[in-house]
Amino acid sequence: MESYSAATRYRVNVPDRVPANAVIELDYHTFGGDADPDFQGDHQLAWKALQDDGGPDLRFTPLNGGHWIVMRADLIGQVLDQPELFSSRILALPKEVGEVYRFIPLSLDPPEHGRYRSLVVPLFTAKMVHEKEADIRALSNTLIDAVIERGHCDYVAEFANILPISIFHQLVAFPEEERERLRRMAYAANAVSAQSAAGMLKAIGDFIAPLIAARRKDPGPDVISALLQGQPGGRPITDEEALHMCQQLFIGGFHTTAGTLGFLTLHLAKNPDSQKELREAPDRIKGRVNELMRRFSLVGIPRTATRPCTLGGQQIREGEAVYLPLVLYNFDEAIFERPLDVDFSRKAIPHATFGRGIHKCPGQALGMTEIAIALEAWLTRIPEFRLEDNARIRIKGGSVGGVENLPLTWR
Ligand code: HEM
Repeated sequence: MESYSAATRYRVNVPDRVPANAVIELDYHTFGGDADPDFQGDHQLAWKALQDDGGPDLRFTPLNGGHWIVMRADLIGQVLDQPELFSSRILALPKEVGEVYRFIPLSLDPPEHGRYRSLVVPLFTAKMVHEKEADIRALSNTLIDAVIERGHCDYVAEFANILPISIFHQLVAFPEEERERLRRMAYAANAVSAQSAAGMLKAIGDFIAPLIAARRKDPGPDVISALLQGQPGGRPITDEEALHMCQQLFIGGFHTTAGTLGFLTLHLAKNPDSQKELREAPDRIKGRVNELMRRFSLVGIPRTATRPCTLGGQQIREGEAVYLPLVLYNFDEAIFERPLDVDFSRKAIPHATFGRGIHKCPGQALGMTEIAIALEAWLTRIPEFRLEDNARIRIKGGSVGGVENLPLTWR
């Protein structure tokens, strides 16, 4: 397991223009997770406590190369709505690590971004997602079959970590015998040093590159073959571009969906009344997932200023990074009343769990459908469940937070 000392290795001096009350020693790779010594036991509440501590709307941490952290929804929105001013070229901090990731389309800015995004969006249409529903349900039930009689399981290892990647394997038609190896690669896809990020991307690339070559010769009804038909800027997509797109799809849909399943099920295990409420109306789970995803948001994203500007009255220099914890968008009282309550009667739920603006997640419908069907299947078949006595739940911070183990029992 890699240590998180990268944050401190990349410590910088705080610039003079940063107000003293804005300075905070925050390493986003660990914040909101139990590797952080100050962790209070809840990923989302750790961020909320910071938002409510009376400090300024922009904080500055000297860790991870030094960067701003944006605390309010309107400012997070301003950053996401100006991709020319706030570039997504650096996808992780410190920038020495972020530069290693060349995900397409996420690391591209306009106008280049649009040429590739238009190749990804048609892969995840409502029709395609609808056609996947039966597979998602069947897989959920197979995973439940394996644990139901036992009366207990580790929900993360035996369900949440398996479902999203198995569905992705089906979409790209990865060879059956290689799927376990890929699952292990996806687990490791959370590198915090430039060296480990490069190693992880190379391992995934070494696996996917031959598949791209094979699908060029012999296309099938799968996502990689469809991508290879793409014409960014009116010419055929290159193998390298296709590889960076596949790497993004491979990593982008796994930790996010698995982490959300973990947080939602942890919440349900602690709240039998919420389980009951969902169980009593399984046909309404799909509609209710949106509110649950608002409350249990888990992604944070960096952007880099392309020129000097001000944000929330604070000067930002060209090349400085701002980090956007999307959960704080969803927890801002300016948008949502009583934001910590799970409230299924909310009328509109314009949350930012899937981002906002030109990079807003194109896999949203697939991710939400996986989560809704997984919850519905679990709640329909598994009786009231709770955490195992004395369970020690490990929570992960980082740009995609998550639950690393979730021992449940229904004995
Ligand atoms: C619960 C599940 C998911 C969550 C919470 C989520 C979240 C996000 C967020 C916040 C972004 C924007 C990042 C940014 O602006 O920097 C994003 C982008 C993206 N996501 Fe997802 N995602 C999920 C599932 C998926 C799935 C299942 C796929 C496809 C397999 C996917 C593919 C992508 C892609 C390709 C982008 C980049 C879009 C662009 O740059 O235009 N995501 N996602």
